[in-house]
Amino acid sequence: MGAGGQELVVMVGLQGSGKSTFVAEHLAGSHVVVSKDHWPNARHREARQQRVVAALLAEGASVVVDNTSPSPAERAPLLALAAAAGVPVRAVFLDVPVETCRARNGARGGRARVPLVGLYSAAGRLVPPTTEEGFTEVTVVCS
Ligand SMILES: Nc1ncnc2c1ncn2[C@@H]1O[C@H](COP(=O)(O)OP(=O)(O)O)[C@@H](O)[C@H]1O
Ligand SMILES: [Mg+2]
Repeated sequence: MGAGGQELVVMVGLQGSGKSTFVAEHLAGSHVVVSKDHWPNARHREARQQRVVAALLAEGASVVVDNTSPSPAERAPLLALAAAAGVPVRAVFLDVPVETCRARNGARGGRARVPLVGLYSAAGRLVPPTTEEGFTEVTVVCS
């Protein structure tokens, strides 16, 4: 991101890879955090999220979308919103092995622990984000 410049950040990573921890430590002070997890029971969460992101970008806010977003198809609507708003879009990829994610997930309690089928489903769809896909920049975090 240029100094003080507006951006859209798309987090990419499996459940338990550390996305929300990274967002809290590095982005929450400067970006509006949007996640479908904020509306766990709502219908049409994807459409709602896209409307919220579009409105925030139009207001001039920097935004970070904190979902797993494992596949290009799942990221494409966000790339389109950024392009429409003329805002650079950066991917932050938490490159963490699925077994590490599984161990971290198992150590979590309550609603934070996700079903393993969801984790392995996302692992099967995972394609690392690239600039060829349309991202202005890709930040890879290995931890
Ligand atoms: N870099 C890290 N190393 C070890 N454990 C981590 C790291 N980042 C996050 N965790 C732990 O892993 C779990 C999942 O982190 P979280 O940020 O909620 O992941 P996500 O949002 O990708 O599901 C949490 O218990 C968190 O404390
Ligand atoms: Mg999270």
